[in-house]
Amino acid sequence: MGVIRFAVPKGRPLEAMREMLLALGVHPSSLDDHSRRLQLDDPGTGMRLILAKPVDVPTYVEYGAAEIGVVGKDTLLEHGTGLAELLDLGLARCSFVVAVAASSGITDVRQLDFNCRVATKYPKVATDYFNSLGISVEIIPLNGSVELAPIVGLAEAIVDITETGRTLRENGLNTVATIADSSLRLIANRVSYKVHHEPIQALVAATRRYLQEQSLKLT
Ligand code: PRP
Repeated sequence: MGVIRFAVPKGRPLEAMREMLLALGVHPSSLDDHSRRLQLDDPGTGMRLILAKPVDVPTYVEYGAAEIGVVGKDTLLEHGTGLAELLDLGLARCSFVVAVAASSGITDVRQLDFNCRVATKYPKVATDYFNSLGISVEIIPLNGSVELAPIVGLAEAIVDITETGRTLRENGLNTVATIADSSLRLIANRVSYKVHHEPIQALVAATRRYLQEQSLKLT
């Protein structure tokens, strides 16, 4: 029936899930930090690992270039398609927030000026959120270091993810609203999920067992 192709997000998400992947039987050599290989057949699980940029994982899975993948809920919400979300891994937890310069005196998102500028790496999430509140804003798409925008006067507010809150704090920004929480999710292409139901379900079950064991260790 063919090998299962698993789109793994490189960088920080991979680090957050490294232990889990090893516990699931992925061979350590497949996660070799120094390797530049982007596709490899894992001798541990028999899966083909596709090492993709986190933001691109939903695209690989959506187009069926990978049967399954792991991606942050933040990226999934921004991508906005009908991918099957199989499991919340509870790893790499963070939140989507609206933040403003502390010096602005604004404490609630509804105090933002009509049509004010909001900078973000997540234009869809930001647009959906402000639409849901009936607040009219101008979305300014950026690719990173979004916290800079209110400091230099590019935007009055930002929509971004925050994990420890350190970047906001060190740049003098305050959270005025929380939009949603995020963590890594196991996703599948809906057709692939039907075709490869058994091996994918086996992986989901093994992952669930691992997560349960981990949470028991913490109690
Ligand atoms: C993310 C996010 C924040 C920061 C939040 O950025 O966009 O800037 O992490 O983390 P903290 O609350 O723990 O400080 P990332 O490091 O991915 O880089 P980028 O801003 O260049 O996208």
